[in-house]
Amino acid sequence: MKNYVSASVLSADMLDFRNEIRKLEKSDIDMLHFDVMDGIFVNNITFGLPVLQQVRSATDMTLDVHLMIADPLKYAKRFAEFGADIISFHIESESDTLETIKAIKECGVKAAIAIKPATPAEAVYEYLPYLDMVLVMTVEPGFGGQSFIPETADKIKKLREKVNSIGIETDIEVDGGINDKTASIVLNAGANVLVSGSYLFTSDDMKSAAAVLKEGKSC
Ligand code: DX5
Ligand code: ZN
Repeated sequence: MKNYVSASVLSADMLDFRNEIRKLEKSDIDMLHFDVMDGIFVNNITFGLPVLQQVRSATDMTLDVHLMIADPLKYAKRFAEFGADIISFHIESESDTLETIKAIKECGVKAAIAIKPATPAEAVYEYLPYLDMVLVMTVEPGFGGQSFIPETADKIKKLREKVNSIGIETDIEVDGGINDKTASIVLNAGANVLVSGSYLFTSDDMKSAAAVLKEGKSC
């Protein structure tokens, strides 16, 4: 399975956003990870629809939108209209899971369920046939720059085994604390889409940092 890197722009310089996007494009980054937080589902507020719309008009990169909001069903369609290519929403949110997947897919956008560190892999099993991706949070959602939670590796492994056993090709994305030390752990466990914010944006050479993540090698 191909490995991908999705750069979390939570760590980007918002006053120089256009140039930050150019930098991602030149660094062989596969996707732009756009973290939407509403201050209710998580204790932080980030950016939303108007910013996504502007990002869409500035790049052809795959826009990987991670909704950390209380009612994703209410907004899924609008995030699709405003340019998302993939929408992840939390199974712990208040929206009906199947309805939300349906709403995303009706817009021709890829759908993913995100799970917090305390949510077991089994919670998503019944939805796997309808999903393009599962997002396993490897930190508590809400903030960038946290440390990877090692216990999440077992969950990734379990999910990859389940996906393989039913013979489907579901991407497994990991998000939080992914860097040159932790990439090999998640890749070995079966993840193939690596979100990274602080590691990529603080690296001197983003292109080689992205290559390190995809290959799981230490610098
Ligand atoms: C956390 C966000 C992540 C975060 C990752 O709630 O979903 O996408 O930006 O940042 P790092 O790579 O710094 O942990
Ligand atoms: Zn995220």
